[in-house]
Amino acid sequence: MPLPGGLADYMILHEESAVKAPDNMTDVEASTLPIAALTAWYSMIDIGNLKLGQTVLVQGTGGVSIFAIQLAHAYGARVIATSSNDLNLEKVKALGADEGINYKTYPNWEEQVLKLTDGKGADVTIEVAGGNGLNQSIAATKVTGTVAQVGFLTGQTTQLNLMPLIFRQTKLRGIAVAPRVAFERMNDFLNVNQIKPVIDHVYKFEDAIAAFEHLSKGAFGKIVIQIS
Ligand SMILES: NC(=O)c1ccc[n+]([C@@H]2O[C@H](COP(=O)([O-])OP(=O)(O)OC[C@H]3O[C@@H](n4cnc5c(N)ncnc54)[C@H](OP(=O)(O)O)[C@@H]3O)[C@@H](O)[C@H]2O)c1
Repeated sequence: MPLPGGLADYMILHEESAVKAPDNMTDVEASTLPIAALTAWYSMIDIGNLKLGQTVLVQGTGGVSIFAIQLAHAYGARVIATSSNDLNLEKVKALGADEGINYKTYPNWEEQVLKLTDGKGADVTIEVAGGNGLNQSIAATKVTGTVAQVGFLTGQTTQLNLMPLIFRQTKLRGIAVAPRVAFERMNDFLNVNQIKPVIDHVYKFEDAIAAFEHLSKGAFGKIVIQIS
């Protein structure tokens, strides 16, 4: 988990808290993995039990979702991505998303997901929006499919309609990042598939405040502060 004091030249870590970075990545690239990438991997692979050819639904084009698109595509899954921004939908298609839905144009975006999946829904949905949109995610996920509850961008509470959850037999699972074994398996996968993180901007240590300002405005990909 993020802890105060991470932005430092030197720190003492217990060996159990360190994971070998993928060989194909620079330190800047590897620094983007511990939360967004790992959460996406664990949600889809360990919890969602994703199989070749299955469908993953990701919401928005934030850090978790971009990694989920790259990982799911390399895994051989079909990826449906949503965004409020058509330009970002084009960008995620270049990263491996098969279909894009603008959730502003289609506020009932779950209906579009059902249209794209012959009425069945996605096998695994990575829920980053939270709030009452959870009901839409359940509707957009196939019967007995998995909704991995990762985020709470629109709200930390929800008014959950229980009957669709019950009749669709949805597996709703809370996610709190992932265990280290999952991180090690993910790093092997990233290495074998030569996947590179999407980085929006790298800031120098002395420009750390600008990096946080950029973060608060939003980015496409990760923002890194590089320690010399
Ligand atoms: N549980 C865990 O272990 C864990 C781990 C990592 C992150 N999280 C949480 O997961 C969430 C996502 O994290 P992140 O780092 O990916 O965030 P982020 O990079 O800040 O994501 C921002 C993007 O989310 C999208 N978004 C916002 N509201 C949305 C909505 N109503 N529907 C669909 N997409 C929406 C927007 O995409 P567009 O601009 O394309 O519309 C926005 O650009 C956050 O709540 C974070 O705290 C939890």
